[in-house]
This record gives sequence, structure tokens and C-alpha cells, in this order.
Amino acid sequence: MGSSDNRALSSIASKVVMALAGAFLLVFLVVHLAINLLLLADDGGAAFSAAAEFMGVNPVIRVMELVLFAGFALHIAFGFVVSIRNRKSRPIRYVHKSRSETYPFSKYMMHTGMIVLLFLALHLIDFYFIKIGIIAPPPGIERHDFYHRAVLLFSDPLYSGIYFVSFLVLGFHLNHALQAAAQTLGLNHPRYTPLIKAASALYAIIIAGGFMAIPLRFTLFN
Ligand code: HEM
Repeated sequence: MGSSDNRALSSIASKVVMALAGAFLLVFLVVHLAINLLLLADDGGAAFSAAAEFMGVNPVIRVMELVLFAGFALHIAFGFVVSIRNRKSRPIRYVHKSRSETYPFSKYMMHTGMIVLLFLALHLIDFYFIKIGIIAPPPGIERHDFYHRAVLLFSDPLYSGIYFVSFLVLGFHLNHALQAAAQTLGLNHPRYTPLIKAASALYAIIIAGGFMAIPLRFTLFN
């Protein structure tokens, strides 16, 4: 096998790792959103806290948390690799760009991904690092009381705004992510591609819209 064959193979391998890790993250987002939407129940956080407690003690979920962090690390690392490789393999930029290059969602995957990564850092500081004891909780709030922590955070319109805009960007990232993962994993077919595109858009709208409803609710109706 020639070195260009090796390069092509490792390029495909990088994309497959990224797509598989990304697919796992897509499932994580559904579970995370389903639990977070319990914040919208008008029950003083009872249902949300019960679900969070269950997730906190369930050993399967604890193991999945490690898989989740590995999934994020792989997806981000290989995202950089694929993106840098794409640039290098094209030292002179095309004058006539192909549709997929100019299509805004695919063109800005690296940018939207970086914004989601920044959001994630902020988000871990807000909840996860407090839970595991790296950061002290704010006065009057118990370490595992995610409900009152969320209420406090989203009572600040600026903070809600940061989360809201991050979810919008996440929506753009997800819209292309699902299509791209399907293509990398060989699920594209002239007949199914429009269906996969529609499913990607629907998934992105439901996930981003669902997350956006949370800061919106606490900012508007508190
Ligand atoms: C309003 C929206 C959101 C709320 C209220 C929220 C709330 C929380 C809470 C309470 C935790 C701690 C749970 C625990 O450790 O037991 C957590 C953890 C986490 N969240 Fe979010 N989250 C939101 C959106 C997101 C989004 C959009 C992402 C991904 C892009 C995300 C990724 C994570 C990750 C990776 C963790 C740490 C792993 C885990 O504990 O499961 N979250 N979030």
C-alpha cells in the first residue's frame, strides 16, 4: 500500500472515530435534555431532583459518564485532525467552491464546535465542578442541589443570554453533524439523503429549542 493510500485510510479512520463519538454525543443530548426539561414542571424541582439523584447513584450511568468524557475528547481531538488535514490537502484554495464548502453549516463546523466547547467549559464550572467538589457552591445552595443552582443562574438575564446563544450555535452544529455522521458511516443514498437532511434539521431544532426553553422560562417567568 502506498503512502497516499495510508494517508487516505487514516483520514477515513479519523472521520469514522469522530462520527462514532459524535453519534454517542447525539444520544447523550437526548437523555440530558429529557431530564433537564423536568425543570419546566411546576413542582419546585421535585421531578428534576429525583431524576438527577437517580442519575447520580446509578452505577451504569456513572460508567457512562466516563464514556461520555472519552467521547467528547475523541470527537474534539479528531475534529481538529480532520479539519487541519482538510486544509493541508488543499494548499491552494479553490476559486469555485463546491456547494458543501460554501454551505454555511458545514463551512462553520469548526467555529460552531469551538463555541460549543467554550460553552461546555463554562457549563462544567457551573454544575459539574461544583458537584465533584472542585468549586465551592454559592452561599445557601447545597452542592447537589442542581435545581436551585439552575434557578439562580437563569435569574440573571445576561447568563441566560449566554446559554441561549450557545444553544442556538449548538443547533447549527447539530444540524450538520447528523448528516455528516450519516455520510461518513456510509448511510447516504440518493433516496435517503433528503430524509437524513430533514431528520438532522428536526433533531437540531428539537434539541436546541428544548434547551433554549429552560433559560427562557426562568428569565421570563420568575
Ligand atoms: C439549560 C440547559 C442545561 C442544563 C440546565 C444543564 C444542567 C446540567 C446539570 C445539572 C449537570 C450536572 C449533572 C450531574 O453531574 O449529575 C450537567 C452536566 C453536564 N452537562 Fe448539562 N445542562 C444543560 C445543557 C447542556 C448542553 C447543551 C450540553 C452539551 C452540549 C451539556 C453537557 C453536559 C455535560 C457534558 C455534563 C457533565 C456530565 C454529566 O454530569 O452528565 N449540558 N448539566
